[in-house]
Order: sequence, then structure tokens, then C-alpha cells
Amino acid sequence: MPDSSVKGSTEKRKGEHVDIVLSEPVNSASNYWDDVTLIHNSLPEIDFDSISTETRFLGRKINAPIMISGMTGGFERARGINRNLAEAASELQIPMGVGSQRAALENPALAETYRIVADYDVPVVIANIGAPQLVGQRGKRAYDVEDAVRAMKMIDADALAIHMNYLQEVVQPEGDRVASGVISAMERIAGRMPVIAKETGAGISRKTALRLKKAGVRAIDVGGLGGTSWSAVEYHRAKARGNEMGERLGKTFWNWGIPTPVSVAEANVGLPVIASGGIRNGLDAAKAICLGASCVGLAGALIRSASESRSAVITELQGIMEELRVAMFLTGSANVRNLSKKECVVSGMTGVWMGLD
Ligand SMILES: Cc1cc2nc3c(=O)[nH]c(=O)nc-3n(C[C@H](O)[C@H](O)[C@H](O)COP(=O)(O)O)c2cc1C
Repeated sequence: MPDSSVKGSTEKRKGEHVDIVLSEPVNSASNYWDDVTLIHNSLPEIDFDSISTETRFLGRKINAPIMISGMTGGFERARGINRNLAEAASELQIPMGVGSQRAALENPALAETYRIVADYDVPVVIANIGAPQLVGQRGKRAYDVEDAVRAMKMIDADALAIHMNYLQEVVQPEGDRVASGVISAMERIAGRMPVIAKETGAGISRKTALRLKKAGVRAIDVGGLGGTSWSAVEYHRAKARGNEMGERLGKTFWNWGIPTPVSVAEANVGLPVIASGGIRNGLDAAKAICLGASCVGLAGALIRSASESRSAVITELQGIMEELRVAMFLTGSANVRNLSKKECVVSGMTGVWMGLD
């Protein structure tokens, strides 16, 4: 996942992340999409077969407002995972991101595990680097605009996601904890290429969204609380290594963050919002669009099928797209724009958050 500078190579760490997500409980305690309910329409007055999920994202036409969030790259198995995901994204004509490209920026021999994506006709390809790497960490060189250009070129990308993962970094005693200077580094890069500011499970507040907008980012991926918890992933890694402090911090901050639906509403500052964090199915996706997202992103819900085969990913995504269409039908929404104008009910903790000023 997001970069972190624990001991051991980036390659090994990326493999461990995938294995932990596949084998251990890593979700946050609540999925906040359960607090959001769409309002049923008994007389939809549209025909199911005429519903269109087509939309535009970063200037490109896509078949559905559903994106494969950046997950992996940098070790041999990741090449197969990225190939399965890219084949599915191309077949279904939806956007896809790769995982942090730090491994390949440091060791170009690993570039192929990401570059494979460029072999397919994916409508929007998103490169990925970490915000903590944009400032010097304990003597390590800070990445600059040239590194961002290399990451983009490596996979023929249309945009660059800069992931913010300070929760994951700080729960590891050896993580990258220098955070001053990140926003100006992001601004420099955003002046040169389309940047998506992306959280990784802790959400983005309105204030942060406004700062990011001012820095010139083109879109905001809220990466909110409710799905994969990187604090949980680091808890499992620390436990396996007998690192008591890491285990303690990972456990305490397992459920830290801004719930994804709240963050979708908060981060709506006039830029396209990507709702990621705990999206499990097409109904969650419909709820996110109703709350103002332009597109949703899925990671945890796809990693198992991505580790299996191209057809497993396609089957899963087709199911999600069909669920989205059913939700659109039952709310009387002929297209994505109509769905975004519907009202929904927000209850529970999510309702409390949204009631705050
Ligand atoms: C196995 C795995 C690896 C990930 N690696 C990255 C990464 O390298 N860069 C990144 O920006 N996000 C990464 N993420 C975070 C996701 O893109 C996403 O923001 C987060 O997992 C929340 O979505 P989810 O609840 O659908 O999993 C990773 C997620 C998973 C499950």
C-alpha cells in the first residue's frame, strides 16, 4: 500500500501488504455506507434497459463511475495482479490506478510490474507516489517534479495520484514522520501535471480539501474510513515481527479517520470527488454518487479477484455495475446526473458527523 519506510525492502513490504489484506481482518469496525439510505421510488417512470451509467472523468468518457483504486506493483506477483486489473478496466472501460511506484523509481528493474497496465486500452490510467516521499525523510532524498514525470511516463498515465498516508506512517515507529512542506511540494507537481490528491483510509476534511484545491490539484480521492484500515494492516505486520509499539499503535488507531460518506460531502469544494473507502458493491457506489461523488474507487473489494484472474475481476465488477443500475432504476435515475440529484437519508454516526458545522 501506501509507502512506508519500515525496515526491509519496498518490494517485500508490498507483498506483505497484499498477503495481510487477503488473510487477516483489516477492515475498520464500521462501514459507514450502512448509515446512508437511498429513497425508493415505486414509480420510477424509466425503463431499466435505457439506464446509462456512462459518465466523464478527467475529460474522458467512461462506462461507469467506478474506478479500480491504486493497489500494487513492485514485486513479481504484482505484475499479474496489475495485468488482471488492467484487462478488466479495459474490457469494462473504467479508470484504474496502480500502487505506489516508489519501488520502481528506486529500482527501475521493477518498472515492468506497473508498466504492464500500458499494454491495455484503459480509458484513464493513474500513476501513484506518496506525499511523505515529497519531503526529505531521515536523510533520504525528496522526490521532485522529475520523479513525478518518470512515474507518469512509466505507465503512460493520464493523472498522478499523490497519496497521503500519515496514519499508516505514524503507527509504525520507523515510518516517515516528516510532514512539513508537503503541500508546497504537491503544488509544484500540480503545476506540471494533473494531480489527484488521495487519502488512503482516513478521509479528507473540508479545510484540507480547500488547501488542496488552492494547491491546484485536479481531483480529490477522499480515501475515507470504513474499509481497509492501514492502521490494522500495520498492526498485523508489527505483531508478526514482535514490534510491541507498532502493535499497540496499530490497534489503538485501527478506526481513526473521517467516515467516507462524511468526507465525500466535506471534500466537495468544486473539484471532482472520488469516493473510496469501504465501497463494497454497486449500492454503496449509488449512495456515493447521490452524496456528490463523481466516481467511486474500490481496492479491498477487488484484491481477492485480482489475485485470481482477469475473469474473476470482470465478474465482480459486472456485478457491481449491475447493482448500480438496479439502484438507479429503483430511485428513478436514468443517468448518473439524475442520481446525483436524488435525496438520501443519513443516519447513525454519519448523520451526527454531517450535522456538525
Ligand atoms: C492491497 C492494497 C494495497 C494498496 N496500496 C496502495 C498504494 O500503493 N497507494 C495508494 O495510494 N493506495 C493504496 N491502497 C489504498 C487504496 O487505494 C484505498 O485508498 C484504500 O484501501 C481504501 O479503499 P478500500 O476500503 O476499498 O480498500 C491499497 C489498498 C489495498 C487493499
